[in-house]
Amino acid sequence: MKTGIIYDSQHGTCEKLATELAKGTEQAVIIKLSKKTKIDLSEFDQIIVGGSIHAGNIQQTIKAFCQNHTHELLTKPLGLFLCGMHDKEMDAQFQTAYPEVLRKHAKSKHCFGGEFLFGKMNFFERMIVKRIAKVKETTSKIDYRAVEQMKSELFKD
Ligand SMILES: Cc1cc2nc3c(=O)[nH]c(=O)nc-3n(C[C@H](O)[C@H](O)[C@H](O)COP(=O)(O)O)c2cc1C
Repeated sequence: MKTGIIYDSQHGTCEKLATELAKGTEQAVIIKLSKKTKIDLSEFDQIIVGGSIHAGNIQQTIKAFCQNHTHELLTKPLGLFLCGMHDKEMDAQFQTAYPEVLRKHAKSKHCFGGEFLFGKMNFFERMIVKRIAKVKETTSKIDYRAVEQMKSELFKD
C-alpha cells in the first residue's frame, strides 16, 4: 500500500517524526509541503498528514492542503498527526488544526508531542517560549509510543 506522508515543520521535529513513521515501510514517501507546489495524491493508496502547532495554530500550508484536497482525502485511508508541547491543550488544538470531516474519516489520529529546540529558534521565538511556556532550554517530549501506534494502525505489512 503506497503511503504519502505529507507534513510541514518549522524546526524539524515533525520532519523527524514523519521520517520515523516511514522507517521500515518500503512503500512510504515523505513530502514536505512547504517545498512542494503541486502534489499528485492519485499515486498514493493512503495518506498521512502531519503538522505542528505554533501560537495555537497548525501551519497554514497544512490548513490549505486539507481544504484544497478534502474530497480526495476522503476517498483513501487517512492518518492525522500533530506535534505540540502543550499537553493539556492538545485535544482542542487537534480539533482546530484539522477539519471535522477529516477527523471523522481518519483511521488513525495521534499527537506525537514535540520539542523546544532553542538552537533553531529565532530571537522572538525564544522570547515567546521563555515567557509563555517558561522553558529556557532545549526540551524534548516526543511520544514515540504514539508514533508506533499509528504505524500499527496504518501499516499492516
Ligand atoms: C514560537 C513557538 C510557539 C509554539 N506554540 C505552541 C502552541 O501554541 N501549542 C503547542 O502545543 N506547542 C507550541 N509550540 C511547540 C511546537 O509545536 C513544538 O516545538 C514542535 O515540536 C514544533 O515542531 P516543528 O519543529 O516540526 O515545527 C510552540 C513552539 C514555538 C517555537
